[in-house]
Amino acid sequence: MGSNVILSLIIIYFSVANIEAAGKKNAFVGFANKLDSKKTFNRSTSSLSNSISRDECNLPDELTEEISRYKPIVEGIINASVNGIFKKRTWRTLARFVDKFGSRIAGSDNLENSIDYMVDLLKKNQLENVHTEPALVPKWVRGRESCWLVSPRLEKLSILGLGSSIGTPAKGITAHAVVVESFEELKKLGKVVEGKIVVFNEPFISYEKTVKYRGYGAIEAAKLGAVATLIRSVTPFSIDSPHTGWQHYQENVTQIPTAAISIEIAETLQRMYQAGDDILIYLYMEARNLPPVMSRNTIGDITGHQHPEKVVVVSGHLDSWDVGQGAMDDGGGAFISWNALALLKVLGLRPRRTLRSILWTAEEEGLVGAAAYFHDHRNNTAAFDFVMESDEGTFQPLGLSFSGSSEAGCILKEILKLMHPLNATQFASPMDGGPDIEFFTNVGIPGAALLNANERYFWYHHSNGDRMTVEDPTNLDMCTALWAASAFVVADLSIDMPR
Ligand SMILES: *[C@@H]1O[C@H](CO)[C@@H](O)[C@H](O)[C@H]1NC(C)=O
Ligand SMILES: *[C@@H]1O[C@H](CO)[C@@H](O)[C@H](O)[C@H]1NC(C)=O
Ligand SMILES: *[C@@H]1O[C@H](CO)[C@@H](O)[C@H](O)[C@H]1NC(C)=O
Ligand SMILES: *[C@@H]1O[C@H](CO)[C@@H](O)[C@H](O)[C@H]1NC(C)=O
Ligand SMILES: *[C@@H]1O[C@H](CO)[C@@H](O)[C@H](O)[C@H]1NC(C)=O
Ligand SMILES: [Zn+2]
Repeated sequence: MGSNVILSLIIIYFSVANIEAAGKKNAFVGFANKLDSKKTFNRSTSSLSNSISRDECNLPDELTEEISRYKPIVEGIINASVNGIFKKRTWRTLARFVDKFGSRIAGSDNLENSIDYMVDLLKKNQLENVHTEPALVPKWVRGRESCWLVSPRLEKLSILGLGSSIGTPAKGITAHAVVVESFEELKKLGKVVEGKIVVFNEPFISYEKTVKYRGYGAIEAAKLGAVATLIRSVTPFSIDSPHTGWQHYQENVTQIPTAAISIEIAETLQRMYQAGDDILIYLYMEARNLPPVMSRNTIGDITGHQHPEKVVVVSGHLDSWDVGQGAMDDGGGAFISWNALALLKVLGLRPRRTLRSILWTAEEEGLVGAAAYFHDHRNNTAAFDFVMESDEGTFQPLGLSFSGSSEAGCILKEILKLMHPLNATQFASPMDGGPDIEFFTNVGIPGAALLNANERYFWYHHSNGDRMTVEDPTNLDMCTALWAASAFVVADLSIDMPR
């Protein structure tokens, strides 16, 4: 844990130095990023998760009793969200939002306009201390793009350029293709790759295991002299749907254009390649990296009545990719996070500590908004009692996944027992699906992410399919209820969450 903490601090400070190098080309390359931080590491909790999974919680009786006394309050919150005044409200407000603004990529007017809209909404809901805090974010612009199989026959291929990719020359790139399934296979081809387009048809194992091809495919191919890469989308399911996402370049390695192709096309190209077909591909991309621009994290509170300086955070990210509507990633997480506070406000529930809803900006480009927020509050991390994020779907809620001390984990487990009316009592560790709040959990602040029935999350993730149709009103109500009730109880307990 120690070395992880030091490493993440180094990454944070290095990243901030990068941010400050505004305007510098590719200032964000090498940034602490989603690839490395989302779902990829099991931090700081191995002994903890063992002890918790063996159910070795010995909370003092008074604390167990104190938690059980929240039962009627929790039931009231759940009832109001699922059957009462807030029924279908999260879905309705999210639908209005994503239909009004559409996709919200960092650096876009859509995102900034949607932030203004949320600031208004939070104020209308009479949240307190409503404001934004600045973050300098990358501005990558897709532009037009197209791709054709030219030989052995003509076919237009669906692609999505990857975030941070450069474009092609104005006349496009026409080159022969090689197809590989892994970096090992690529290296075996060696010089054969020179002047070619490398197609990666890596099998999908899991997002965390497979995403390295999207993240680093262009670097590895360029090292061998490739002129572009086409990368099988990181998804288990496809109806010819490409999925975008952030990718990296490396200093002193030639930057080449890179785009996602669908599973079907990757497999087709591989069969052709194995059959000995001479594959010629035309790729055209106008993608550009423009200088970074200012964006904002959006914040609203319910101020604590006893310890206003202590904070429990519920959060999701407001930005999305530039395709689909970002309804699932992460409209749902952002909207349960402000509706949870709006609901508590309407119910007149004000906890001892401050409850804070944070809607992060520029998560997709490498947790940029969260890094800026954490940096700006780095001298005050003691104020953060508990942090929560939902960024892996808002399907049927199952419970929470957690990182932090075993004592805090045991308290959370006890609180989750109150979520019985939602059937959302599951506890898992380590935390999975709270990329932005890992800045906090990495320094020992206890945190949790939403556990939900998200088996189909990666079907839609970063694709044109991420639209409101994916979201279900009842599931969203239940997620809002779980979010509001668990955050409220933590924020109102007589003791701080132990570190
Ligand atoms: C993370 O934890 C899971 C389950 O505890 C385990 O299957 C996986 O191998 C671990 N990953 C790493 C990188 O340690
Ligand atoms: C649940 O909410 C409904 C609608 O607001 C209300 O009529 C009912 O009394 C509530 N039930 C409980 C147990 O709070
Ligand atoms: C890149 O090349 C320059 C000039 O040769 C060198 O000074 C620098 O250390 C290299 N950077 C990396 C990361 O290798
Ligand atoms: C935070 O603390 C560091 C060292 O402890 C100090 O150099 C810095 O000025 C402080 N920053 C703020 C914003 O208080
Ligand atoms: C919880 O599960 C039980 C049994 O499967 C079911 O009857 C009940 O409707 C579920 N409650 C909710 C809120 O989904
Ligand atoms: Zn997300």
